[in-house]
Amino acid sequence: MDSKLTVKDFKNLICRELNSIYSLKEILSIYSILLENRVNISKVEAALYPEKVIESQQLLEDLKRLKKAEPIQYIVGVAPFRNLELRVTPDTLIPRPETEELVELIVSDPTLNKRNHLQILDIGTGTGAIAISLKQKFPEADLYATDFSIRALQVAKANAEKYRLKVNWIHHDILRDPVEILPQSVDLIVSNPPYIPELNAPMLHANVTQYEPHSALFVPNYDPLLFYKRIIDIGSIILKPDGKLFFETFEESQESMMQLLKSYKYKNVHFINDINEKFRFLIASL
Ligand SMILES: C[S@@+](CC[C@H](N)C(=O)[O-])C[C@H]1O[C@@H](n2cnc3c(N)ncnc32)[C@H](O)[C@@H]1O
Repeated sequence: MDSKLTVKDFKNLICRELNSIYSLKEILSIYSILLENRVNISKVEAALYPEKVIESQQLLEDLKRLKKAEPIQYIVGVAPFRNLELRVTPDTLIPRPETEELVELIVSDPTLNKRNHLQILDIGTGTGAIAISLKQKFPEADLYATDFSIRALQVAKANAEKYRLKVNWIHHDILRDPVEILPQSVDLIVSNPPYIPELNAPMLHANVTQYEPHSALFVPNYDPLLFYKRIIDIGSIILKPDGKLFFETFEESQESMMQLLKSYKYKNVHFINDINEKFRFLIASL
């Protein structure tokens, strides 16, 4: 195919080629991301100048990958998160809008805002999205972030360096490694751990199951609360009095999570919905 196309031709092509994989809304978002990243054309420019001729070789290569359901974020190598543009690789989960909401809940928490020199621990940091955002909001805080994937930690470190923010990266397997490796007295533990039972994998889009790291997503069917149990237990050891726990979680977990938190004497337990009115976040304090 000719390596030059108009913006309008490319739009028609991408809509036609991806319509069996994505909704129109999703295709238009992918189209804008590609134009922005590959040929430096904004959404507004694309709408104003549909006849503009663009270099299409890279875009056509990208389209081939998109047709195999590869996520656009892995193709362009970046994903937005709040006011950040984070590097993402197949070793890291692509940060989700719900997680932006989790960060928003933390940064607007009145009790945390009153404390000085916060000690914050993010467990299972992936791209570092949560930890980096919190360091940006609370520059005086000490940020610690763990992951069991060395390669994910390397991506997270590069993301923090891009914004010149200091986070202490800790290679730690939350299910196996000793608690002593973690900071021993923290004001806040935040985590968006793996929580999707393996059984649910067939219900997810191919762009998730074929490309995102399974170790970041799935838990065994027989123990969906695996990570939460361990983090709640660790929290009871390392959280300061009145220290807080913030989780991203899933709808069906409410009842069992409540029992678990009570058995550890956590208090002020709140279940909070996301913008789609789905139960998604849990806050508790010690
Ligand atoms: C759902 S992802 C969340 C990533 C990131 N915090 C976010 O919200 O975008 C879960 C993360 O936990 C990490 N993880 C999985 N098993 C782990 C373990 N046993 N110990 C520590 N981290 C683990 C994965 O590598 C992944 O980065």
